Amino acid sequence: MARIVNVVGARPNFMKIAPILREMDKVPEMRWLLVHTGQHYDVEMSEAFFRELAIPKPDMNLEVGSDTHARQTAQIMTAFEEVCFREKPDLVLVVGDVNSTIACSLVASKLHIPVAHVEAGLRSFDRKMPEEINRIVTDILSTYLFTTCDEANENLLREGVAREKIFLVGDVMIDTLLANLEKIREMDTWCRMGLRQGEYAVLTLHRPSNVDDRQVLGKIIGALETVSRHLPIVFPMHPRTREAVRRFGYEKHFRSAHGHGSLARDPGRGKAIGEPGIWCCDPLGYLEFQNLVVHCKFVMTDSGGIQEETTVLDIPCLTLRDTTERPVTITHGTNTLLGGDGVRIAEEAMKILQGKGKRGQSPPLWDGKASERIVQILAQEFRLN
Ligand code: UD1
Repeated sequence: MARIVNVVGARPNFMKIAPILREMDKVPEMRWLLVHTGQHYDVEMSEAFFRELAIPKPDMNLEVGSDTHARQTAQIMTAFEEVCFREKPDLVLVVGDVNSTIACSLVASKLHIPVAHVEAGLRSFDRKMPEEINRIVTDILSTYLFTTCDEANENLLREGVAREKIFLVGDVMIDTLLANLEKIREMDTWCRMGLRQGEYAVLTLHRPSNVDDRQVLGKIIGALETVSRHLPIVFPMHPRTREAVRRFGYEKHFRSAHGHGSLARDPGRGKAIGEPGIWCCDPLGYLEFQNLVVHCKFVMTDSGGIQEETTVLDIPCLTLRDTTERPVTITHGTNTLLGGDGVRIAEEAMKILQGKGKRGQSPPLWDGKASERIVQILAQEFRLN
């Protein structure tokens, strides 16, 4: 028997853990617990994903909430150490690159509990990104490093990670996308928002480097306004960005797509947003957001995961960052890296509107079976089959 503690904390973790838990359930000798650190806590940033993706209720919620990096990481560590003392797991499995990922890896490794890191080896080579530090430290501490692409393997080998610890398995985030794709395509979120199919863009923006500085954010908004004269931009706004927009007095640049609450709960209140402008709404659930993506003309984002999802969906993606830890989405996929250069953002958007958007293909092993491979490898390691 193997006792595994799986960790989630923030929004991009939830769609990654969902397919892994489903696969673990198929191995009777694999006993698992799910720990939610509580890094994200708003209904639309957390609970909505559990509901939509049928993720079992966490066995424990550490309820750490928001704070500075050091305080948040320390609080997760203190609470998670208690969990490890009590549960004595044989393995701690972490996903992605958020503060919960590094905090729990650090605790487990000091207690000599092996760590499995799902989505290992990604590197932006920009240590100003908190996630880059989380990635590097988590990988150093991990016993099992599950990677999404060849570049990740190369990064790890270059950093001196032993070859036998690295397993190229594919992308668990894509497992979730493919498993839900039919449902996603059939939904009518875009239609209920008053949008016309293929005639709007989707925007997400929440990186501290883009939204925490008044001037940087102002410049990006200027570029987006240029683009929005040609087609409406739908912008489900992250709480960090909402706070920054309010702090800098930038509200006037945005139009409100609807009042409060998610569209699913509040379908009647969506205003028609077929006309140009940057239209904001609250953060959306997973399925509604993906529905907007599959039916849009193109996506503008500073997210990591969305670069991968648009690649698989063959939707052009303009990434508003200077670096990416996911270069395979540029070499194989639909991604173009633009930084915050307003002129280039507008130029690239125009190219797409003229039908010259980038086309791409899915990288090898992004086939919906990454979780199956991970669980098979772990079952073998623990001699469960
Ligand atoms: C975190 C991750 C980032 C990920 C992002 C996805 C780290 C270092 N960053 O960034 O990699 O891309 O999640 O969303 O782990 N807030 C709320 N409600 C919530 C959560 C946050 O209002 O449920 C607000 C708080 O004001 C908080 C701010 O958002 O201070 C930032 O939250 P935090 O978890 O610190 O970082 P994110 O920017 O969400």
